[in-house]
Amino acid sequence: MDVFILSLFLLTIRGVSAQTVIEPQNTVVLKGSQARFNCSINQAQTGMIWLLNGRLVVTIQQTEVKISNSRFAVTNLTSPGSYKWEFIINNVVRGDTGQVTCQILDEVAQISTLSVQERGSVVIIDGNQTATEGVQKTFQCQAVGWYPEPTVSWSVNGVGVNTCNNNSVAQGNVFNTNCTLTVTAAKSSSVQCLAKVPAMSTPDSNTVFLTVETYPYSTAAYKRTTEVPKASTRDQTILIAVTVAFSAAALLFLLIVLIIICCRRKREKSSYEEEVRRAQLQAQHRSRARGDGHGHDNRGYARDGHYGDNYNGGVWHTNQSNKHQRAYPMDDYNGPRNHRHLTMV
Ligand SMILES: *[C@@H]1O[C@H](CO)[C@@H](O)[C@H](O)[C@H]1NC(C)=O
Ligand SMILES: *[C@@H]1O[C@H](CO)[C@@H](O)[C@H](O)[C@H]1NC(C)=O
Ligand SMILES: *[C@@H]1O[C@H](CO)[C@@H](O)[C@H](O)[C@H]1NC(C)=O
Repeated sequence: MDVFILSLFLLTIRGVSAQTVIEPQNTVVLKGSQARFNCSINQAQTGMIWLLNGRLVVTIQQTEVKISNSRFAVTNLTSPGSYKWEFIINNVVRGDTGQVTCQILDEVAQISTLSVQERGSVVIIDGNQTATEGVQKTFQCQAVGWYPEPTVSWSVNGVGVNTCNNNSVAQGNVFNTNCTLTVTAAKSSSVQCLAKVPAMSTPDSNTVFLTVETYPYSTAAYKRTTEVPKASTRDQTILIAVTVAFSAAALLFLLIVLIIICCRRKREKSSYEEEVRRAQLQAQHRSRARGDGHGHDNRGYARDGHYGDNYNGGVWHTNQSNKHQRAYPMDDYNGPRNHRHLTMV
């Protein structure tokens, strides 16, 4: 009896004081991130092994550590009275999902569960939208490439309004979800679609803007105008009436002016033709009476013009030729002249 009690006591002591502990018991991480586990025992020990889904991945001995894959790592956290190691899985893949086992020599193996989830994308495919007040608008959110099925929800101006349930479609080993939100345009708002899997502490989201336009004759706006003081409505009506009246008057004035100009031109044209005819007749009479004097005037005019051209050109050309023999013609002549000289040579 005493022996039995003693052995029970010893067993209890051993159970309490020297139990292998793995932490945490469950881990949910996102693909590509890191998973960490601690394994410890409150007594001096010399060896530990780690298994991932039954495969031996880490062997720790008194003086050496063997690791099967560069994605895995261990940290020695041993302190006096506690034999402790941390096992780290980097760049976690979906295939790592399963059991992580720690076993200390001569002790019972301890198991932790690892779940690997996937974060996809979330997009409101309609983008920003504009709507008339009172009109219904639909937004479609697409969450693509998630595992497991994401929780997709909507919020308008930061207030949760709707959650989509179980409308995911599996594509390979991930899920795609479509979620639709219909809103009645009341005021300009931000519309946000959120997607989340348990491994994420905060959801991913996409935000677009709904711009609500108020038109004076939309029913919703009409209802509103009846509430505001009538004076403003009357003012608007008067303003419109005045604008229309002024526009009409201006148009009429323009039309009258155009008609007047048209008539006057026609009259001027006919009177001008008459004058020309009269002048021709007079000229004929005069030439018959006095002979030729007209041609003399013309010849003189032509000679003057011709002479001037020759003179100016000649002088200018000579000067340019002289200067051209010098080194720097540009010092003495302004731009336009120099330019003309170049085109002539
Ligand atoms: C393991 O223990 C150390 C302290 O000893 C702590 O800093 C670390 O966060 C623990 N890791 C896990 C996965 O609990
Ligand atoms: C782990 O750390 C303890 C305490 O610092 C040390 O005694 C032990 O040798 C280390 N183990 C290995 C394998 O480095
Ligand atoms: C929506 O509008 C906001 C600002 O008004 C702008 O920053 C954003 O790029 C727009 N989004 C799209 C998809 O056009």
